[in-house]
Amino acid sequence: MTLVDFEEIKDILVLEFDEFWKPSILESELKSENSKYIVAKENNVIVGFAGLWFSPVDAEITNIVTKKSERKRGIASLLLDRLIRMAKEENRDNISLEVNENNIAAVCLYEKAGFEVVGIRKKYYNGKDNAIIMTKYL
Ligand SMILES: CC(C)(COP(=O)(O)OP(=O)(O)OC[C@H]1O[C@@H](n2cnc3c(N)ncnc32)[C@H](O)[C@@H]1OP(=O)(O)O)[C@@H](O)C(=O)NCCC(=O)NCCS
Repeated sequence: MTLVDFEEIKDILVLEFDEFWKPSILESELKSENSKYIVAKENNVIVGFAGLWFSPVDAEITNIVTKKSERKRGIASLLLDRLIRMAKEENRDNISLEVNENNIAAVCLYEKAGFEVVGIRKKYYNGKDNAIIMTKYL
């Protein structure tokens, strides 16, 4: 994802992609040396994006988002495959993420790709919902 890509989606990010992912946070992530973001495009229009944060030993998925109108078409699966390849290319031992345990779509997406639950952070979201930590060993 380039800054030009960001300009394309910043005004529709909250409404058409994900209400929890603010434009200012995404913009600062794009400028961070330790993060890499990718986009999925169809007919030259962005239909999804995803990001990885690299620590010295592993890679953490910061988010995977598919445009609301394009969900259930395999776009997140393609983005996730690419993130896994990127982590392997950078010789990371594993790729991990935190997800709200009630986010069934995301949990199923990661399970299908071979991620396992390795921990829980109780009441991590809004002091209410648990976060599950999931990892895939590479
Ligand atoms: C989670 C999300 C990224 C899935 O995107 P998507 O492009 O619709 O996913 P795909 O079409 O590639 O689906 C892959 C698998 O995910 C699971 N899945 C996706 N949507 C699902 C749903 N609504 N309910 C249950 N499982 C679902 C299924 O296992 C699916 O495989 P299948 O089609 O063989 O059943 C999308 O719902 C989204 O953008 N949500 C908001 C942002 C978010 O919560 N991101 C995750 C943050 S950790």
